[in-house]
Amino acid sequence: MKSSEIRKKYLEFFRKREHAIIPSASLVPADYIIPDKGSLFTTAGMQPLIPYLLGEKHPAGNRIVDVQKCVRTGDIDDVGDNRHLTFFEMMGNWSLGDYFKKESIAWSLEFLTNKEEGLGLDPKRLYVTVLKGEDEIPRDDDSIRIWKENFEKHNIKAEVSGEDNIIKDAIKIIPLGKEDNFWIAGQTGPCGPDTEMFYDVLGEEKGGKINGNFHDLVKSGRIIEIWNNVFMEFNKTSEGKYEKLLKPNVDTGMGLERTTVVMQGKNNVFETDIFASLTDKVKSLKSKVESTEQTEKAERIIADHIRSAVMIISDGIVPSNTEAGYVLRRLLRRAIRFIDQLGIPKEEIISIAKVVINNLSYAYPILSEKENEILEIIKLEDEKFRKTLAQGLKEFEKNTDAFNLFQSYGFPLEMTIELAKERGITIDINEFNEKMVKHQEISKAGSEQKFKGGLAGTGEMETKYHTATHLLLASLRSVLKSDIVQKGSNITAERMRFDFNWPEKLTAEQLKAVEDLVNQKIAEKIPVELLELTKEEAKKMVTTLSFDLSKYGDTVKVYKITDFSTEFCGGPHVKNTGELGPAHLDTNDSGRHFKIIKEEASSAGVRRIKAILE
Ligand code: ALA
Repeated sequence: MKSSEIRKKYLEFFRKREHAIIPSASLVPADYIIPDKGSLFTTAGMQPLIPYLLGEKHPAGNRIVDVQKCVRTGDIDDVGDNRHLTFFEMMGNWSLGDYFKKESIAWSLEFLTNKEEGLGLDPKRLYVTVLKGEDEIPRDDDSIRIWKENFEKHNIKAEVSGEDNIIKDAIKIIPLGKEDNFWIAGQTGPCGPDTEMFYDVLGEEKGGKINGNFHDLVKSGRIIEIWNNVFMEFNKTSEGKYEKLLKPNVDTGMGLERTTVVMQGKNNVFETDIFASLTDKVKSLKSKVESTEQTEKAERIIADHIRSAVMIISDGIVPSNTEAGYVLRRLLRRAIRFIDQLGIPKEEIISIAKVVINNLSYAYPILSEKENEILEIIKLEDEKFRKTLAQGLKEFEKNTDAFNLFQSYGFPLEMTIELAKERGITIDINEFNEKMVKHQEISKAGSEQKFKGGLAGTGEMETKYHTATHLLLASLRSVLKSDIVQKGSNITAERMRFDFNWPEKLTAEQLKAVEDLVNQKIAEKIPVELLELTKEEAKKMVTTLSFDLSKYGDTVKVYKITDFSTEFCGGPHVKNTGELGPAHLDTNDSGRHFKIIKEEASSAGVRRIKAILE
């Protein structure tokens, strides 16, 4: 079964069970949906849905299915083995306060085993884990009972393993601790016990009767995890308390790449149809003919990193020295180093990127639409890197200050470490980190704030900044040009940051005019109206769109501030623009509450404004 077919079957299976299919959200967490999540990329399918998992009404309904693009770079050094990837796709079905364990488990087993509608896997080769109960969270007896009932439908008597976690004979259900079977993204937010599904990739015929400790079987690769159903019953607060949610949700995640490995009977993802043409391309380009474990690892790293880079760029990120742009830079520069190691001609980075675009355009048409732009950004970064590489290497021979190499020559830290290792030199990582912290003081202050706010904190200040963002956009349109759109936004409790399309530096007069207009609208104390509209109605009202509406369900939210501003947005917003003004009636009120503190270039053709509310 091709990966494209698995994707299609999954969506179709749940569509037939009344789930609305929604497109993948961007890899770049949108803070107009999640104000202060504090992560650079979307790392799980549930992330863009957090507001809805906490009770907000989703415009597409309370049963949802999608395939979400994800990036995780925490394990970047492990890429090249059989399991790790930096970009992957997570298939997920959601109940937003609708169905719970009974339907979720029954449908999972049905999708996995049904030959027509599902994957047709052998139920005898499936094993599941559940929460055994730990601390204040009790053992998930409901899931154990429901799994037994469902295995029974296949005439399988499913037994539960003991404390030794040994799988043998009729044992199908393995209760494990919170470490394994409790899911939360980060420290706070919606969470709950989960049940994970594993498949015996060898089966009895090839691997003999299964008999072993669960964790050992996973480590050896005999069984692999393919699906995780989280039963979100709690919201973990910043005090560490588990508060029961009013209505529990189901959040599931099934890795497309791993499922494809199982379905295609391969040893690893690089042999499946997701990667084969890409790694073949890389292999065909290398000038060194010998194949060693090291060259294979290099080929896989190139394939993985270029694939991630293409996807990240398609979501609007460009290489830079901070945040998501820096991750992209590291991925590209690391790929380039391995391209050189394999003796691949440097311009071929483009033909490798083209294979990625070709492979994934069927699922993400934006890739072919933006092909030229994506390739151009890669080419520019390649040129930039090569220019400084030669210089930097010279410098490196004289002075191995990692931070200097980073700042002056754009050497990612791990590259400096790798170079140093090759030469038997050690790098002072602590010193690098100290300097880096200073360098990124502002963004660090920002992310600590984000962390404190928890996953979906909709603190008062953030809410105000959301509304201020709409006033700023409308003012920019009024002062500069009517077709200005939002190119990015980031909000903390301390400040707002807003990116928009404009080719040149704003003059002092323009900045003052924009600031004045925002302050005028605050002084006018205008009600902020929330309208829930069909997409068609919304399109008539919101004439200049900053976002691609095709990504959203049939009904969308529009926030309207008289005729001054009408924007599609997930919110939250204040009820009246006056709330951005003085907290108390103050006769000495200056009327200047909104202040632009900085205006700078963000990338080519995009300006960035930082502003505060006082
Ligand atoms: N949120 C769960 C995961 O990412 C499904 O594994």
